[in-house]
Amino acid sequence: MNKKYLKDIDISKIIKVNVLGDERGSLTVIEENNTIPFDIKRVFYIYGTKNEVRRGFHGHYKTRQALISVAGSCKVHLDNLQRKKEVLLDSPEKILLLEPNDWHEMYDFSKDCVLLVLASHYYDPEDYIRDYEVFMEVYSS
Ligand code: TYD
Repeated sequence: MNKKYLKDIDISKIIKVNVLGDERGSLTVIEENNTIPFDIKRVFYIYGTKNEVRRGFHGHYKTRQALISVAGSCKVHLDNLQRKKEVLLDSPEKILLLEPNDWHEMYDFSKDCVLLVLASHYYDPEDYIRDYEVFMEVYSS
C-alpha cells in the first residue's frame, strides 16, 4: 500500500451490520470480503479491562482490523495524521474499520465490555508501530 493511497482513505469507517432479528432475539453475520473488506486471518477479543486502562497505542504497516463491541462499550481514539477522531463503540451492530495508518487507543471500557477484533493478518510484532514518532515518519508525506 503506498502512501498516496493511504492518504485518500478516511480515518475510519463505521459499518452498520444487518440485524436478523425475530421474536427470539437478534443475530448478526459478518462475512470476510463482504461485510468487511478483507480476509479474516485472526480473531481476538479484549475483555475484563479495568476502567482506567487505556490500551492499543499503535498503528500497523499492513494489518487492517474491524472492531466490534459485542457487549458493553468502549471508546476508540483514532489519529491518521490528517484527522483525529473519537469513536464510541456501544453496540454489537457497529463495526469500526481500522486502516493500518489509524493510530488507535481504546479506553473507557465498561465492566462488561467484550471488544471483538477481526484482523487481516496473523500476529506479527514486526507489523506494529508502537512509537508515535516512527508512526509519523512512516505515514507523513
Ligand atoms: P497488546 O498488543 O499489548 O494489546 P493492546 O495493543 O490491546 O494493548 O497485546 C497483549 C499481549 O498479547 C502481547 O504480549 C502480545 C500478545 N498478542 C498475541 O500474542 N497475539 C495477538 O494477536 C495479539 C493481539 C496480542
